[in-house]
Amino acid sequence: MRKLTIIGTVPDDFNSIVKDIAGVFECDFKAITAIIGAAPGEFTLIDIDLNDGAHLGRLKEWIARKPSGAMVVFVTDKSSHLEVMRARALGGTDFIRRPIDTRELLAKLVVAIPAAPAAEAPPLVPQAPRQDGFGAAIDGLESVFDQASSGGPIDAATIQSAASAVVDEIERTGLATWVDTVRAHHSQTYQHCLLVTGVAVAFANRLGLSRADRERLSFAGMLHDIGKARIPVEILEKPSPLTAAEMLEMRNHPQYGFDMLNEPRVVSAEMLDMVVHHHEYLDGSGYPHGLRAPEISDLVRIITISDIFGALIERRAYKPPFTGAAAYKVLRDMGGKLDQALVREFEFASKFDQHHFKPAT
Ligand SMILES: [Fe+2]
Ligand SMILES: [Fe+2]
Repeated sequence: MRKLTIIGTVPDDFNSIVKDIAGVFECDFKAITAIIGAAPGEFTLIDIDLNDGAHLGRLKEWIARKPSGAMVVFVTDKSSHLEVMRARALGGTDFIRRPIDTRELLAKLVVAIPAAPAAEAPPLVPQAPRQDGFGAAIDGLESVFDQASSGGPIDAATIQSAASAVVDEIERTGLATWVDTVRAHHSQTYQHCLLVTGVAVAFANRLGLSRADRERLSFAGMLHDIGKARIPVEILEKPSPLTAAEMLEMRNHPQYGFDMLNEPRVVSAEMLDMVVHHHEYLDGSGYPHGLRAPEISDLVRIITISDIFGALIERRAYKPPFTGAAAYKVLRDMGGKLDQALVREFEFASKFDQHHFKPAT
């Protein structure tokens, strides 16, 4: 029988997996501290704290000795594309979300077995896709940020269908409900993208834009910061102010996003324009190209306003979120950097504070 090596902290954590796959794999548990000496086998499952750097160097060396074609599946936190990046840097060949779904794990392992007799595969019950806009957006973001982190091509179709579902949901329930849903969700990782998306779609509704443009803005809200997947984790998560060099690297994220979506080209020209230019200002003080008003399209202007507003109303560990009215004031105070005619239309976003933007205590 094939052998699956499980590397973790506590053997009992894996009892139910070991039992569930007993007919297909024989499991062998090893503590992360006990891998020296043993060579990696064909199949390995690694479930450790990727934020604890103590054993990562040793683990990387160990994985580097695996036979060619061997499979190393890392268990990562559901919402953390940063963990996926770390796991890939260590030599992981695939990833599975915590808590582990045994059927999903088997599907990954069985696919990796060349010419496995069909009888050996357990019945795999496909999970029903989530239909609502919020679920579709979370699933879409997780999959494209994984793709972006691994340097693979971006599957734009996933985000396109999520973009359409978000437009429907915001039309049905409104921005305030969307903001509440995003804030109530346990994951903070995609909070910014989800807020910018909701704000941009609601604003597009307000402006009476076509369905096609609403979907474009929804799409761009989700992907505008995809280039951050290429910024080193130490910069993205640095708790103190960035150095000048780090700031320069951070400012590359619009160009990185453009490159990811352009090579190979997987989105339209309008989408690329929004991704690469969402930090441009009408007075020429933005980046990366220092564009001026005539060169900045309406859709870019809308995504820029939505991006700033979305960042201000975000809930972060170190700051209470701005109320809608306070965030709106920031947009007005930015004067000639933003299209103030659009900002005036945007005032609707400050109107639902009483019910939905309760300042944090
Ligand atoms: Fe950005
Ligand atoms: Fe952003």
